[in-house]
Amino acid sequence: MTTTTVLLTEAQIRERVASLAAEIERDYPGGEDIHLVAVLKGGFMFMADLVRAMSTRVSMDFMAVSSYGKGTKSSGQVMVLKDVGSSLEGRHVIIVEDIVDTGLTLHYLQDIFKARAPRSVRTACLLSKPSRRQVEVHVDYIGFTIDDHFVVGYGLDYAEKYRNLPYIAVLGD
Ligand code: IMP
Ligand code: MG
Repeated sequence: MTTTTVLLTEAQIRERVASLAAEIERDYPGGEDIHLVAVLKGGFMFMADLVRAMSTRVSMDFMAVSSYGKGTKSSGQVMVLKDVGSSLEGRHVIIVEDIVDTGLTLHYLQDIFKARAPRSVRTACLLSKPSRRQVEVHVDYIGFTIDDHFVVGYGLDYAEKYRNLPYIAVLGD
């Protein structure tokens, strides 16, 4: 049977997401609009909570990329399954991701976003596993830095399960 051990509680996540939201708002002075693009599927819950902690000057979009298939190992292949629905040109864009692991996905996404003439591109990741990095990527906003565990919950899955957990847990055996 598969077990899960809580790593980050609902309350810890809520508090951290609220402070990230405040930090982001402080970083975009003058009431400028901020366009957040969540990376599906993992980023959906983080996005939902982040925007609810922000003021009304946000707009949202979604992008879907393939990453892991069904297992826990990175394929190194990134494929765009669903692109954004409106132009990024001239906008302040923030890529909203669940986790940066090897960095391959984000590295690729940041490149294609920058090529679309936005006014700025930043990245927000709820989690970072720096010990797993294969390529260097810059992440502007990181919720929590964690050790090399495979984690699930709060958007993150294992074989499409556990995304609905309101907390983040380490998957055991
Ligand atoms: P990267 O390209 O290796 O940085 O992986 C990025 C993607 O892999 C993330 O957006 C997740 O969808 C997935 N991923 C990486 N680590 C984990 C994990 O511990 N649990 C669940 N999904 C993960
Ligand atoms: Mg993801």
